[in-house]
Amino acid sequence: MAQIGLIGLGTMGAALALNIADKGFSIAVFNRTGSVTTDFHAGAGALAPRITPTQTLADFVAAITPPRAIILMVPAGPVVDDQIAALRPLLGKDDLIIDAGNAEFHDTERRAKDAEGAGVPFIGMGVSGGEEGARHGPSIMGGGPRAAWDRVSPILSAIAAQYDGTPCATWMGPGGAGHFVKTVHNGIEYADMQMIAEVYGIMRDGLAMPATAIAPVFDGWNKGVLRSYLIEISAAVSAATDPVTGKAMLDVILDAAGQKGTGRWTAIEAQHLAAPVPVIEAAVAARNVSSRLHARVAGQGVYRAAPQAMAAGALTVADLEGALIAGKILCYAQGFDMLNAASKTFGWGVPLPEVARVWRAGCIIRSDMLNDMAAALTEDVSRNLMLAPAFVTHLQRTHTALRRVVAAAVLAGHAVPALSAGLAWFDMMRTARGTANMIQAQRDFFGAHGFERVDGQPGKHGPWGAHG
Ligand code: 6PG
Repeated sequence: MAQIGLIGLGTMGAALALNIADKGFSIAVFNRTGSVTTDFHAGAGALAPRITPTQTLADFVAAITPPRAIILMVPAGPVVDDQIAALRPLLGKDDLIIDAGNAEFHDTERRAKDAEGAGVPFIGMGVSGGEEGARHGPSIMGGGPRAAWDRVSPILSAIAAQYDGTPCATWMGPGGAGHFVKTVHNGIEYADMQMIAEVYGIMRDGLAMPATAIAPVFDGWNKGVLRSYLIEISAAVSAATDPVTGKAMLDVILDAAGQKGTGRWTAIEAQHLAAPVPVIEAAVAARNVSSRLHARVAGQGVYRAAPQAMAAGALTVADLEGALIAGKILCYAQGFDMLNAASKTFGWGVPLPEVARVWRAGCIIRSDMLNDMAAALTEDVSRNLMLAPAFVTHLQRTHTALRRVVAAAVLAGHAVPALSAGLAWFDMMRTARGTANMIQAQRDFFGAHGFERVDGQPGKHGPWGAHG
């Protein structure tokens, strides 16, 4: 009998099943299209004896030792509901369903409530790391009943990525907490990628560097403060050559980016929570703008204003590195602040230092900096990261580079929406007296909404005549 089951042998599900078998666990697998299961098992090589392929749901359930744990790795959305509905009648009271797809956390909350109502356990689990991570060690963010998590955590910890011997698999809280943390991970992923794309654009168009010259720059950055998976792969994709044309691979890829929606969900939830994440919002918007290809081509025709080359010495590669360091810190400061807001609003008690810890390895946004973030959040969990001494030092050293880069980019017609959103947020967050007094006066003028005074004097309306 198998120790665990998995439904859905697409790219991620197949990789996760092999990972589980590789770590010494026996696993039953099922896929809606039976031939996929047969082929998967036939291709499992030395791991095949630990894998039980099944062709019906009933056989699948019967192949797993009760109380069962069943991982769903099927497309997010109605397919998950259909799969749960098909499974539940075959399961016992203590059998646990784990949705490991990229679910929208409201769906997970609903499924968790349904499961609670029926007295059966359900876990919503974020899994990051792409196919490679799923196969050899992803980062895992779980949510649901603590007792259910504890039951499966030995298997999940064994298959997760390890950072200095610590498994990157943690319980983030009840209900949809795990999928929420994964959603914010993806929002940050969008932002990290967008900021890298922005400095790449400055190197390509502003400093006239070919992709072959850009690759070693990313490589160099990957040995310093910015060391991370996304910088590493940016070096790799910059160095690659197109086998068809012999040109740099980057130069033959259309600049219109797709998305499956998790970044967008982060931006939407941030608005609901009134938690500002402008760098992520800018990154989501930039993807949407990128896909307006025809309008952009027409726009360039009308305004004849492609990004211009920058004067020699206007910016250095070191400026770009500094800008990226500052932008990254500001983006994560926003992301963790949003997680904190969500955790309070939903009463989840998300362990923020643990979030930083499980993101240190296995996931797409893994980076050295996350280790320092974990330390800063351990010192003071509710302090904004931009105020943590380690990051104050970084920001004091790099924020002028961010300003120089944004200013030079804007003057030369380069779009840097994420970097400039980070800078604007930074400037607002270090300004004790901003300009919302004007907003308050306007609101009071047209709607008698009232305001607070700075001097403690009586009165909360202005002398606006008929409106006062
Ligand atoms: C991960 C990724 C993954 C995501 C892809 C594509 O953590 O492994 O976040 O879950 O699905 O990165 O996302 P988009 O298609 O939205 O870019």
